[in-house]
Amino acid sequence: MSSRHESFDVIVVGAGIAGLSAAVRAAEAGASVCVLTKEAAPEECNTRYAQGGIVARGGPEDPELLEQDILAAGCWLNNREAVRIVSREGPGAVEDLLLRKAQVPFLRNAEGEVDLTREAAHSIRRIWHVKDYTGRSIQESLTAYVRGIPNIHIFTSCMAVDVITNTHHSRDDSQRYAPKRALGVYVYGENTGEVVPFFASATILAAGGIGNLYLHTSNPPGATGDGVAMAERAGAEVINAEYVQFHPTILFHRDLKGFLISESLRGEGARLMNRKGEYFMDRYHPALRDLAPRDEVSRAIYYEMEQSESTYVLLDTSLLKVDPRDRFPSIHETCLRAGIDMTRDPIPVVPAAHYFCGGVKTDMEGRTTIPGLYAAGETACTGVHGANRLASVSLLEGLVFGLRAGTAAAALADRPGLPLVQSIPDWVFPAEEEAADPILIYHDLLNIQMTMWDYAGIVRTRKRLARAKADLNYLAHRVDSFYRQARLSRPLLELRNAVDTASRIVRDAEANPKSLGCHYLRGSPV
Ligand code: SIN
Repeated sequence: MSSRHESFDVIVVGAGIAGLSAAVRAAEAGASVCVLTKEAAPEECNTRYAQGGIVARGGPEDPELLEQDILAAGCWLNNREAVRIVSREGPGAVEDLLLRKAQVPFLRNAEGEVDLTREAAHSIRRIWHVKDYTGRSIQESLTAYVRGIPNIHIFTSCMAVDVITNTHHSRDDSQRYAPKRALGVYVYGENTGEVVPFFASATILAAGGIGNLYLHTSNPPGATGDGVAMAERAGAEVINAEYVQFHPTILFHRDLKGFLISESLRGEGARLMNRKGEYFMDRYHPALRDLAPRDEVSRAIYYEMEQSESTYVLLDTSLLKVDPRDRFPSIHETCLRAGIDMTRDPIPVVPAAHYFCGGVKTDMEGRTTIPGLYAAGETACTGVHGANRLASVSLLEGLVFGLRAGTAAAALADRPGLPLVQSIPDWVFPAEEEAADPILIYHDLLNIQMTMWDYAGIVRTRKRLARAKADLNYLAHRVDSFYRQARLSRPLLELRNAVDTASRIVRDAEANPKSLGCHYLRGSPV
């Protein structure tokens, strides 16, 4: 029986836009809510690094036009219902939660109207932004708003280890014959070294994405596929894992890893060129050119680099119709630190892993296939993105489906009773645990990242995927015994999640012979 535990109506794992939206809505419904983040501050998460903006009200012709754009970018593999919901409810949710309640300072024009920007594959200007630090602004405003809500308790440096289910964890033998349900999560406290069970009626996984499974990514280091791995280990269905989106333009620089060069630069006129000075997108997509869908632009860059044996291409910013010092201050400042003056020089860029279009399968209220377990944001797959995501729709999806999951979770009102709570054992630590050697963890993670980048990246082949499967299989065994023997730590837990989620991506990629959107298999039918 657990000697110490915590209990809430709703547990939210993750503190990005999806997690915080879910927490706000559940709290508004009267639930006691716990938000867990493995970071030392809730402001640090994937949402923070979104630069371009969030799709909102673009004009009278939206939302039908937005639906069409999302479907076209997603290669019509999208879930139509989810697309309809996000397009219709999204603008109202941005206005209500982000603008009215959290008071995000979206940029306004001289007339006082919200300034609209544009990104690839959008047929009109409809993206609200705070210059080039929209994610940071949203995250800081939303966190400040959530901090003022008394029935939301934020636990920092606390990492969910595993979803607790009755069928798997209970010591009451009759529970193995009961329908499976989620009871909460085991939580590792980085500052205490303890693992404590947290119980709730509903657990919402909003733990962000998977970018750090790849050698090059725009995501922060914490994006290790935690939510997907936990859900899958608990037995929840995961879908569309082969669809990993690569952002075409990350700064190419030895010391500044993973810095995003927002697509809105191309929306405002910048163009990609190869080292011969050719605007090569004219050849790959004559109609949309540099504003073609991301998968096509990333592949075009890949081929250009392959043909010229180069490790980067260039973004010509001399064509910008705005002053980059004013419109893109963070990018301008970061480039200057890298010795590039974008008012004069082109920016060297490469594609990098950016967004996971697959995830834990949910219905339109965030329910996974396990009762009591919900998912939202990048961890979830509602089907909004299909085979490829339209730019600036991810924050919107996190917001809309975070709110929906929060409503449904608060309505569940089915906290595990005392006998069930008492049947869940304390965390069992290995008998002779010792601190894991950081070099071993670093090396295993690097192995995963290189395997995924080379064999399950922008351009895949059957042989590469088979190699990835074999290598990950070997690594998974090694990481599992490591996990069972060493003292728990955040890097070790992340490594375990990374190998599980990477294996899942490779399995789904191998099982899908058809190239579509961001799953591109060289030599297979398109
Ligand atoms: C960007 O600013 O290019 C990223 C926006 C997004 O991924 O939606």
